[in-house]
Amino acid sequence: MDRIRIVGGARLNGTIPISGAKNAALPLMIASLLTDETLTLANLPRLADVAQLKRILGNHGVDMTVAGKRLGEAELSGETVHLTARTIVDTTAPYELVSAMRASFWVIGPLVAREGFAKVSLPGGCAIGTRPVDLFLEALQALGAEIDIEGGYVIARAPDGLKGAHVTFPKVSVGATHVTLMAATLAKGETIIENAAREPEVVDLAECLIKMGAKITGAGTSTIRIEGVTRLNGARHSVMPDRIEAGTYAMAVTMTGGDVLLEGARADDLKRPIEILREVGAEITETNEGLRVYRNGADLKPVNISTEPFPGFPTDLQAQLMALVTRAEGTSVIRETIFENRFMHVQELARFGAEIHLDGQNATVVGVPRLKGAPVMATDLRASVSLVIAGLVAEGETIVNRVYHLDRGFERLEDKLSRCGATIERISG
Ligand code: UD1
Repeated sequence: MDRIRIVGGARLNGTIPISGAKNAALPLMIASLLTDETLTLANLPRLADVAQLKRILGNHGVDMTVAGKRLGEAELSGETVHLTARTIVDTTAPYELVSAMRASFWVIGPLVAREGFAKVSLPGGCAIGTRPVDLFLEALQALGAEIDIEGGYVIARAPDGLKGAHVTFPKVSVGATHVTLMAATLAKGETIIENAAREPEVVDLAECLIKMGAKITGAGTSTIRIEGVTRLNGARHSVMPDRIEAGTYAMAVTMTGGDVLLEGARADDLKRPIEILREVGAEITETNEGLRVYRNGADLKPVNISTEPFPGFPTDLQAQLMALVTRAEGTSVIRETIFENRFMHVQELARFGAEIHLDGQNATVVGVPRLKGAPVMATDLRASVSLVIAGLVAEGETIVNRVYHLDRGFERLEDKLSRCGATIERISG
């Protein structure tokens, strides 16, 4: 198994190109199931989760071709993939394929909308809480699907097609919003989604669906309206930049000090994290090329925050922020309100000498003057990268084990950081 070795102490200086967003790429790829024409997605990140979804879509009958490099294209730019679901040959998403990644469950929406039938294994993914699927099932039922659970599989049937409905989510869910949005594009009549997720990835999906001929208004607000159409067409869409990756590197620079341009990052997607990072001590400016993050040697300040659905502070940046404030001058409180078990990085951060006390949803982080390098274990996607952030300033050597978690969500992490001056390398095997 690969490991990452870091020697802390270097400041970060240079440019980091931000990849296409994993959390937008996945639903966009799944949207290819809604049409028999070709959906071309540009700027797809080269990540393990994207590769896994390609296998899942291939099993349903989606043909995929990867476009070659184009003149003037940067060496590190994302992939362009043509996805064509001419015929859905299999409406089952089996356990072996779905269990590795929760988002693969989302194929249920397009499959039942287009084929009137779907059999999808209950999901796996990061072990960060129970992550049930009740909201998905209630929404699909509201759209007229009959739902059964048999042998670990959800079976959705709508032989006469889905019908528009009024869906009010009791809780904000990104995945349930994506699935309801996709399913409703092919339902008969109007669907209104209330308390919809407002995440930028929902907007990106809606924009692509609109290019495919869907009639959608209100994406990015809490109320989305969809007027169903009988069929969707092919389209071309470029995946939005990864705001979580950008936020992660912004925290890394704030931690080490230095001056880095996050190329392609969009300030509007990161308003709250930018506010918080400024409180902690970073200077962040928006430029034509992206976001510039700068910190000279000034002390880091503590913060008091809660994770919230967008536009609040994202749970996907919680672990990274916690790593950052382990070195603040004072005590921070970080409250996790989205997932009940998303503090697995705490015990690993303690190996660096961080002082963190957990009490239910609250983590109290007492800043310490220095961290010391240590062997640590990646536990989930975002937790793993928090260990990298700590390792970048820890004295001596840090070895991060089980880095396959990082490969699910961060493209060429060690390469991007070492180009900015970090001492970081992958040790294979
Ligand atoms: C997505 C993101 C993930 C991010 C999360 C919250 C992708 C691929 N993943 O995950 O990176 O951390 O949003 O921003 O985009 N819930 C239910 N019942 C359901 C569905 C969800 O109770 O049927 C709960 C979950 O357990 C959780 C909360 O709702 O407590 C939010 O989860 P949700 O927004 O659905 O997360 P994902 O879409 O899985």
